[in-house]
Amino acid sequence: MAAADIGIIVSLCKRRGFIFPASEIYGGLGSTWDYGPLGVELKNNVKRAWWKAVVYDRDDIEGMDGAILMNRLVWKYSGHEATFSDPLVDCRECKGRFRADKTYELDCPRYKRKVAACSANLTEPRAFNLMFKTQVGPVEEDAALAYLRPETAQSMFVNFKNIVDSRWRKIPFGIAQIGKAFRNEIVPGNFTFRTREFEQMEIEFFCKPGTDADWHAHWIEERHNWYLRYGIRAENLRRYVQQPEELAHYARACTDLQYRFFPEREDEEKQWDELEGIANRTDYDLSVHSKGKHDKWQVHNEHSTQSLVYRDPVTNEKYFPYVIEPSAGADRATLAFLMDAYSEKPGPDGEPRVVLKLHPALAPIKVAVLPLARNKSELVEKAKAIKADLQRHGIRAVYDDTAAIGKLYARQDEIGTPFCVTVDYDTLGIGKTKDGAKEEDAPASPAGLLDTVTVRDRDTWEQVRVPIAGLRDFLADRLGTV
Ligand code: GAP
Repeated sequence: MAAADIGIIVSLCKRRGFIFPASEIYGGLGSTWDYGPLGVELKNNVKRAWWKAVVYDRDDIEGMDGAILMNRLVWKYSGHEATFSDPLVDCRECKGRFRADKTYELDCPRYKRKVAACSANLTEPRAFNLMFKTQVGPVEEDAALAYLRPETAQSMFVNFKNIVDSRWRKIPFGIAQIGKAFRNEIVPGNFTFRTREFEQMEIEFFCKPGTDADWHAHWIEERHNWYLRYGIRAENLRRYVQQPEELAHYARACTDLQYRFFPEREDEEKQWDELEGIANRTDYDLSVHSKGKHDKWQVHNEHSTQSLVYRDPVTNEKYFPYVIEPSAGADRATLAFLMDAYSEKPGPDGEPRVVLKLHPALAPIKVAVLPLARNKSELVEKAKAIKADLQRHGIRAVYDDTAAIGKLYARQDEIGTPFCVTVDYDTLGIGKTKDGAKEEDAPASPAGLLDTVTVRDRDTWEQVRVPIAGLRDFLADRLGTV
C-alpha cells in the first residue's frame, strides 16, 4: 500500500499538534518547523528507538554528544570548506536562485514552465557553500569565524582517540551521535524532508581495512531491518546503490535507504528519495585529521596535534581504520514513520476516520484513560488514579474527559494512541444508569466486572475487559519496550 502523501501529513500535523510552521505569527521563516506536543514525543521516541538499537542492544558502540560549534580547522581538513557546496544558478530575469542540478524539477516562479526552459536567462553554475557562518566572540571584527556544523560526523572523528583511550576500545567498534545539523540549502522544501536546520542520527563504525566490505553489508542489513521493525512497510523502503560517479572522492561505496516520500508522483522512479545513507568512507577521515602528510589524500595537516593512527594491541600493526557510516535523518525518519502509519477507515457513522497505526514504541501517547462520564466523581477519580499508576510505572498515559467517549476514541486513533482504557459504571460495581435514571435504580453490575476496565485496541477497535489489578502487565506486554 502506498503511504499517505506529504500534504495529508502536513495538515494532520498542524491539526493535531505534531508539527507547526516555525515563527508562524510573524509569517514564518522559509522551511523551518516547530515540533509541537505530540511531535516532540514522536521524534524523541524515534531517536530513543535508534539509540537503543545501535548503542544499548550492541556491545560495540559508544555514544557521545559533541558541540555544534567546532574549531574552523575541523572543516578545513574534513574538506567541507573547499567542497561542501551545491551548484547555483541565478535567473537574470526573475532574479530567482536555483540549484543547477534541479532546474528540470523546479517550477519557474514567473512562467508556467520548468526553470530549465529559462536556460537563456540563467547564469553559469557556481559553487555555493552550504555551511552557515557565525562568529565566536563579542566584537565582530576580532571574532573568529566558525560554522554551524553541517553534519554530526566530524566530532566523532576528532574524538576517536579520546574514546579509544577512555573506554579501552579495540577495533572494530563504533561511535554514535544524535544532534542538530545546519545547511543553507538552496532549495529546501517538502515539509521536514529538506530543511536548513535538522537532526541527524549518525554512526561512525571503525574497522580494519579488508573487513570493511563485510561491515558495510552488515550495516546496510541492520539499518534496513530497523525501519521495518518499527513499522515501515517493505514496499515503501528500498536500497539504492550509488554509482561510482555519484560517490564522494574518498568513498568506496554507498548504499542509500530510500523511502517512498512522494507516492503521488506518476513516475515511480521519482517517488523515492533518501532516508539514510550508508557509506564506506575508507580511511579518509582519520587520516586527514591526523598531523602530518597524507599523500594518498593529498592533504598535509599542519594544525592537528595528534595522530589518529590505530595500533593493534596484539600484533602492534599500525593503520588508519576504515569507517562505515550509517547516517540517518531524525526528521526524515519521523516523517516516514508518520506517512507509513497513516490510514483511514469508516467510523460508526460511515464517515472516514483517521487511524495512525504507529508502532507502540513510537506512539507519542501509549494509553489514554477515559471516564465514561466526567460528572461522576468516582469515575473521574478512578480514571485519574489508573493514569497516575501507569505513568508512575513508565507507561506514557494521559487522562481525558473533554468529550463524549466516541469522540475521545476517534481523537486518540488520529494521534496513534495504541490503547484506550475506559472506566465505566461496571468498574465501580454499580451497574449502568440510563440517562436521567436515579443511581439507586440502576441494575446491579454483572458479576465479575467490579474493578475491571475496558481496553480498546486502536487498530482493531476490539474491546476487552481487564481487571485493574492486571492492567499494567496487560498493557506492558502489548506495548513492549522501546
Ligand atoms: N555524514 C554524512 C552525511 O551527513 P548526508 O547524506 O548529507 O550524509 C545524512 O546526510 C542524512 O541526513 C540524510 O540521509 C537525511 O536523512 C538527513 N539530511 C541531510 N540533509 C537534510 C536536510 N537538509 N533536511 C533534512 N534532513 C537532511
